[in-house]
Amino acid sequence: MQLSDCHNVEDFRRLAKARLPSPIFNYIDGAADDERTKDRNTSAFDDCDLVPNVLAGVSDIDMDVTVMGKPITMPLMLSPTALQRLFHWQGERAVAATAQTFGTWFGISSLATVSIEEIGETISSPKMFQLYIHKDKGLNRSMIERCKAAKFDAIALTVDTIVSGNRERCLRSGFTSPPRFTPSSVLSYAIHPMWALNYLFREKFALPNLQTHVDAGTNVAVSVAEYFNTMLDTSMDWAMAEKVRSDWGGEFCLKGIMSVEDARRAVDIGATAIMVSNHGGRQLDGSRAPFDQISEIADAVGGKIDIICDGGVRRGSHVLKAIAAGATACSGGRLYLYALAAAGEAGVQRVVGKLRDEIERDMKLMGVRSVSELDASKLRWR
Ligand SMILES: Cc1cc2nc3c(=O)[nH]c(=O)nc-3n(C[C@H](O)[C@H](O)[C@H](O)COP(=O)(O)O)c2cc1C
Repeated sequence: MQLSDCHNVEDFRRLAKARLPSPIFNYIDGAADDERTKDRNTSAFDDCDLVPNVLAGVSDIDMDVTVMGKPITMPLMLSPTALQRLFHWQGERAVAATAQTFGTWFGISSLATVSIEEIGETISSPKMFQLYIHKDKGLNRSMIERCKAAKFDAIALTVDTIVSGNRERCLRSGFTSPPRFTPSSVLSYAIHPMWALNYLFREKFALPNLQTHVDAGTNVAVSVAEYFNTMLDTSMDWAMAEKVRSDWGGEFCLKGIMSVEDARRAVDIGATAIMVSNHGGRQLDGSRAPFDQISEIADAVGGKIDIICDGGVRRGSHVLKAIAAGATACSGGRLYLYALAAAGEAGVQRVVGKLRDEIERDMKLMGVRSVSELDASKLRWR
């Protein structure tokens, strides 16, 4: 199997599985506990159907939407994810370049392997920084100041990771950042020499947005769970979120909102967007799927705040369904991470191109000429 055989996200997942050492693949693919929420995030889209109209004259269709004040040319964004240079040596640079090609938002994680400054200098399309609130207040301040200096367009504060989810695949594989080669995992690295050579001889692994304040993730191998559970501030609350918003002063997104009540509070503290998200099922297993929550959240706060449906998206038709249910746009992590892991920038460009084409084709088949024509009248729940 190779890049030209990949026609959808699942194809890229298979190629990534073949090309990556298993601890790395399982870090991307895995989720919390029994992974029910991860599966449900995608299967939720199957509980409703699209009802097309025909003869709509769809030679010119408009896929533009505006999210946090920035027009983007398709209603799909690339979510912030950690440690990307571990998946492929091109890491965040490949994802950023693809977001720029397609004119959409992308985000880098607090645990990104490329610096805020480099992304600020190289990418002109809209970019967000994903902030974890650390116990170290100086680190929080420094990340916000660096985002201002690098002219980031938004900060997304992740609110669903107050403690780490129980990611059992990582417990079994002993996955750490940077990777620790244990007797049980060394074989899977050895039988993927391309990955191992790139890891050993390309730019050294680093977490440049943290390294001025913490050793973790630079030369000290820690599990992601241990990092979250020791470094992040479990006292984070609404007052702290509001303080981050005012310290930052720009477009502000809460990432990981699931309830209507919290969506209302996000409006009250002046957030300009919410990512309706359960962190791709990596935190609370048993949590409802983002797509299942969109209608009620849109009924409560639609028009007052941008609503981004984050998680489980694997097809253009999923994007159409989420927008018809009331989302402003969708966002996803694994949909581009499998492709990054499988084939670097060429993979990310290809998968995002495929998804963009699916959205365009499906809009034509639905008989809608602009994203704003997608509303609840186009959906039927089974
Ligand atoms: C490998 C991986 C790493 C992630 N790292 C982060 C992170 O550092 N910060 C964060 O807020 N979300 C992180 N996420 C969650 C994504 O931003 C996003 O919410 C999730 O991937 C959506 O689900 P999907 O993968 O089904 O699209 C990560 C997800 C994955 C798969």
